Amino acid sequence: MCGIFAYMNYRVPRTRKEIFETLIKGLQRLEYRGYDSAGVAIDGNNHEVKERHIQLVKKRGKVKALDEELYKQDSMDLKVEFETHFGIAHTRWATHGVPSAVNSHPQRSDKGNEFVVIHNGIITNYKDLRKFLESKGYEFESETDTETIAKLIKYVFDNRETEDITFSTLVERVIQQLEGAFALVFKSIHYPGEAVATRRGSPLLIGVRSKYKLSTEQIPILYRTCTLENVKNICKTRMKRLDSSACLHAVGDKAVEFFFASDASAIIEHTNRVIFLEDDDIAAVADGKLSIHRVKRSASDDPSRAIQTLQMELQQIMKGNFSAFMQKEIFEQPESVFNTMRGRVNFETNTVLLGGLKDHLKEIRRCRRLIVIGCGTSYHAAVATRQVLEELTELPVMVELASDFLDRNTPVFRDDVCFFISQSGETADTLLALRYCKDRRALTVGVTNTVGSSISRETDCGVHINAGPEIGVASTKAYTSQFISLVMFGLMMSEDRISLQNRRQEIIRGLRSLPELIKEVLSLDEKIHDLALELYTQRSLLVMGRGYNYATCLEGALKIKEITYMHSEGILAGELKHGPLALIDKQMPVIMVIMKDPCFAKCQNALQQVTARQGRPIILCSKDDTESSKFAYKTIELPHTVDCLQGILSVIPLQLLSFHLAVLRGYDVDFPRNLAKSVTVE
Ligand code: F6R
Repeated sequence: MCGIFAYMNYRVPRTRKEIFETLIKGLQRLEYRGYDSAGVAIDGNNHEVKERHIQLVKKRGKVKALDEELYKQDSMDLKVEFETHFGIAHTRWATHGVPSAVNSHPQRSDKGNEFVVIHNGIITNYKDLRKFLESKGYEFESETDTETIAKLIKYVFDNRETEDITFSTLVERVIQQLEGAFALVFKSIHYPGEAVATRRGSPLLIGVRSKYKLSTEQIPILYRTCTLENVKNICKTRMKRLDSSACLHAVGDKAVEFFFASDASAIIEHTNRVIFLEDDDIAAVADGKLSIHRVKRSASDDPSRAIQTLQMELQQIMKGNFSAFMQKEIFEQPESVFNTMRGRVNFETNTVLLGGLKDHLKEIRRCRRLIVIGCGTSYHAAVATRQVLEELTELPVMVELASDFLDRNTPVFRDDVCFFISQSGETADTLLALRYCKDRRALTVGVTNTVGSSISRETDCGVHINAGPEIGVASTKAYTSQFISLVMFGLMMSEDRISLQNRRQEIIRGLRSLPELIKEVLSLDEKIHDLALELYTQRSLLVMGRGYNYATCLEGALKIKEITYMHSEGILAGELKHGPLALIDKQMPVIMVIMKDPCFAKCQNALQQVTARQGRPIILCSKDDTESSKFAYKTIELPHTVDCLQGILSVIPLQLLSFHLAVLRGYDVDFPRNLAKSVTVE
């Protein structure tokens, strides 16, 4: 979805040009999250008190368009130096209102830009707020829910009861009126050189950089309701007058920089020292000091926020020699699957240990059923592993699309174990399903690729899939790592089942050879490119299979439709004669996934049905399969592995095919239209 980036330099002189560059680079790192428009707010001049003003520059299109626009602003001298400055920036993916400059962020309180705000998420009660504010004479210019926030803070400011109300108090009052999900960063001409950020249901983190020692590693939370004294302090005094021990700053009031972002990938090139904000935290920087306060204290609250060290490296998120992140991520799979297993699968002893689950294993073994929940590709990973999970855990396994699971108010019990599969760890539907299951006291397990994400923090326990950052909007390496993580869970659960030992050993051997076999599949890239050359002008593409490879078809078809905009359907071969067969003729391209597994004979039937209707199947099959290739229009031969892991190998040609089709059709592979990497709204 949208991306937030903001930068404060305190006693670190920066020219306006340098500030622009930092903001633009931050946005570029976030562009994969949403990209129909972008904007920045910076100081219009050297904020001499009398003539302070905030300059807004917004542009429809990609960040590059905004970058060009910034340099066209005659009124802004690029050489002007700011000793202290706070700039905010945003990439938008439209939810309310069409993509346009006026709807993009920052949104402003009034024509004088007294308060500006950037926002990720959705405010569900914005219509009521807007009505109220309009009745008070506030004029709206955009169609966004975010503009109500900008107007509301001005309303609170205009009606303040005391002159020296702090910026964070204003924000606190604003968020008490908001319903929905948000991450917000505010800037104001009334509080030059100050910043306030807050979140509820949308991620937000703050990076800190200083060459001087920092005052603390743990920032104690200030609670508004602790004591009357405290109320007075926070309400009536500016943050700068708060006790320094509750603030983070560079020791001796020295130079420090703060980076606010919705995603660590925008911060990591500046610093790896970050603070993850929790829901309803209000973080304020004034006079170079960062403090965090909350309105209410609940028993489960952590009384401080730690400065954490991110392990991610910038080169991990760069494109390298590939033309697109998606292509890079497809080719990273030999390493990413290895990293998923590293330190967890012991190939000598045939054992698997997932550290994040070990303390809960007994409880999981006693459960009534497993419910595996996700959206899109993450859901497909659940479909792909359902059969092997049923086999290894000997438990009933339900797989659920998060949105549908919630729509049905699915019964969940305290002896259920619910898995939440999510690459980003922030998908709104999955997060809501998690909260729904938590309310019903089920044990919740997160399977995510993002440390510190909402899902990883809110679940009782979990597995980090360790695939490395996935930037391409179309998920590829996360799928194979999610797949392996779920298989590893099944293996861990079945360790003491004597009857399953041979099967376990077979699967563990299969896991060991996967990275090499994936390399072999990737070497088919040229052949797949040639196939794409034949197919790229088609309107439709069917992908058919069954059993362990049904999920491969769903996932392959999803990849094709999302980046090539061709119609594509994943079809369960067992359903062929119940409808889809009517689509088959000699014009319709059909890809069939036929592997040497227990469904092989049934897949042959489907193949006969397709060829009998003059269909020309392109078959993904095992290397030694002479039977299927006799009837194929084309074959892609894949190395063989154990049946329940075969889907990891057979999905890769479909990932590559979708990539080549999209390039040949002239589309931007990493930025498919209408889609965003992290879907943080329902
Ligand atoms: C497809 C794709 C989406 C995501 C889905 C869930 O390529 O990426 O279908 O899989 O939006 O996202 P996560 O896994 O982040 O919860």
